[in-house]
Amino acid sequence: MILIKLGGSVITDKSKETTARHDVIDRLAQEIASVPGKKIMVHGGGSFGHIKAKEHNLHLGFTDDSQREGICMVQKDMRDLNRMIEEGFHKAKVPVASVPAGAITIFDNGQLVDFPSNVFAHYLDIGITPITFGDVVVDKTKGIAICSGDDIMLELARDLKAERCIFVTKVDGIFPSYPAPDGEEPLKIIQPGQKINFTVEDADVTGSMQRKLDLMFEIAKLGCKVEILNGLVPGRLASALKDEDYLGTEIRS
Ligand code: IPE
Repeated sequence: MILIKLGGSVITDKSKETTARHDVIDRLAQEIASVPGKKIMVHGGGSFGHIKAKEHNLHLGFTDDSQREGICMVQKDMRDLNRMIEEGFHKAKVPVASVPAGAITIFDNGQLVDFPSNVFAHYLDIGITPITFGDVVVDKTKGIAICSGDDIMLELARDLKAERCIFVTKVDGIFPSYPAPDGEEPLKIIQPGQKINFTVEDADVTGSMQRKLDLMFEIAKLGCKVEILNGLVPGRLASALKDEDYLGTEIRS
C-alpha cells in the first residue's frame, strides 16, 4: 500500500484564501489513477485551512467562545476542498470514500492519541481508495487541536505498514541549503544527522519545514520508503509511482 499526501501548497494557492488549483488537483488524480495498486490519499489544507485557523488561534486550543465560528468555518472549508479532490478522482474514474479526520480523531494535549486506521484498511479491502485530510479535531485537554495531514501519514504508515509514503509538494525536494541557489538540484537522499538550515521558515499552524522533515524521518524508521517530490511538474508523481527515475528526495532512516 502506498500513502500519498497532497500538500496544501500544491493543491491550493496558499496566499489567497480558499483558492484551489483545480487543474493541478485533476491532473494529480489522473496521474494517480494511471498506476494500479492500493493507495490511501491524505491531503493538506493550504489556504482552506491555515489562514482562518491562525486568525482564530485554533492551534492554541479552545480558549474562548468566539472561536466556535472559526472552528466550524475551517471544518467547512476543509470539506469544500475535500469535495474538489473527490471530484478529481471521480473524473479519473477512481472510486473514493472521504473520511474526515475531525470525525474520527482524538488528540490529547496537542498529540494524536486515537485514530482508527482499520477503517482505511476496510475500504482498501473492498477496492475503494480512502481519502482523509488535515482538520480541526477534538482534544481531551485543550478542547480542540489542528491535526495535520502529516500527523495522519505517520499514524497510517505505522498502523497499516505502508510500503511507501510520497509527499507531493510544490518543491523539487530537500535542498542542501536554503534559500536554494537557482538551478541547484535537490538531495537524492537525506539521512538523519544531515543538518539542513531551513532559513526560509514559513511556519504555519501545523509547524515548520524542520518539523515535517523530522516526521518524515520517523516514518522512514518504520521501514517505509519516504519520498518528497514536486507535484506542480506534470508527470513527476506518475514517474515515481511507476518506479521510473524522477527528480525528488528520498528520506532514509
Ligand atoms: C492543515 O493540514 C489542516 C488545517 C489547517 C485545518 P496540513 O498541515 O497537512 O496542511 P498543509 O499541507 O500544510 O497545507
